[in-house]
Amino acid sequence: VSASVTTQHANASGVIDLARGDPHPEFLPLERVRAAAALVTAGADPAVLQYGYEPGDLGVREQLAALLGRYGGAAPSPDALFVTAGASMALDLACALYAEPGARVLVANPTYHLALAVLADRGLQVEAVASDADGIDPDALEAALQRGPAAFVYLVPAHGNPTGVSLPPERRDAVLALARRYGVRIVADEVYRLTAFGAGDADPSAARIVAGLADVAPDVALSLGSFSKLLSPGLRLGWLQGPPDDLARLARRGLLRSGGGLNPFTAALVRQLLADGGFDAHLAFVRARLRARHDTLLAAVRRQLGAARVRPATGGYFLWLDLERVDVTAPTFTAALEQAQVRVAQGAQFVPVGAELGAARSCLRLCFASAAEADLPVGIARLTDSVRRVDSVYSLP
Ligand SMILES: Cc1ncc(COP(=O)(O)O)c(C=O)c1O
Repeated sequence: VSASVTTQHANASGVIDLARGDPHPEFLPLERVRAAAALVTAGADPAVLQYGYEPGDLGVREQLAALLGRYGGAAPSPDALFVTAGASMALDLACALYAEPGARVLVANPTYHLALAVLADRGLQVEAVASDADGIDPDALEAALQRGPAAFVYLVPAHGNPTGVSLPPERRDAVLALARRYGVRIVADEVYRLTAFGAGDADPSAARIVAGLADVAPDVALSLGSFSKLLSPGLRLGWLQGPPDDLARLARRGLLRSGGGLNPFTAALVRQLLADGGFDAHLAFVRARLRARHDTLLAAVRRQLGAARVRPATGGYFLWLDLERVDVTAPTFTAALEQAQVRVAQGAQFVPVGAELGAARSCLRLCFASAAEADLPVGIARLTDSVRRVDSVYSLP
């Protein structure tokens, strides 16, 4: 078998890609995975290659519960956890649990664009709810709930994609109170929650981790987690944390009855890394490297694009940049970016179909996790050149 594999994204050489949200190869722990795989396959028991238990092996869920307890919360009961093939599948399963085709689902505007694709595949009617610099606006959410029933509200409340913002606790509590009052579930996509790296000189791996919604409100919230941003997206391993009765219903679906638990071999491998401390050591590395990369990108933006509005992130993969009077959807601007060989994600991508483009027209999402760190300032220099081509007076403050 050839060692070369096909990955999801590829760029022409010379292009600096600040658009995609993949981890740079430096984040992918090949040695640790190799060692864990050797240990998992070293024993005489071939059960690791058998169909798995529907909600995921109890040992994996116990390790996962301990992990969630170590990082920012009380350890949930293993019954409140369900192993999935990543957060994307966890979202698809949440749709299967809570929403009949045609049902209405509320999402913040802007939101993770590929979640919109999952919701569309399930035949759901997506309605955008206004948000501001702190995330979804509870008044706008209440107005939407008053207009009619919704199956659930989808949020990315911790170091969100695309804005990097976390929902402040008062707002989170207001949203949860509305969910209870109107009888809707909150589906909280928390794939970046454990990447918290804080700010300033403080130790990144001691940064405060935002509380998970399923911890704060186990009666109404379902949290989606993933090892994609913590270990490797190729492992395709994630989880759901939510009401045990809902998860038991999930375990009885045909998908699980026919196929057993999702990704049991990968789960066994990650269980090994969770048990032997390899995961914790790697996560400390990830948080420190994300912080260094974030600081490098932010410094370059401030130095070169000082007139743009940007808010530092305290975790996750992204900075959300508002170029204010520059229309980043204009063909002249996108042509300038292409010529400069830099890729960025346009804010408009994260606006649900039919919703107001609003401020997103002048916003870009910049990923600091994917390109080589040394390329981040070069990418910003290319972006700055492109901006100046369409707005010659774009100036420092
Ligand atoms: C908010 C959000 N949810 C889900 C995913 C995908 O997660 P997974 O690889 O676990 O399916 C991503 C990846 O970019 C993401 O940003």
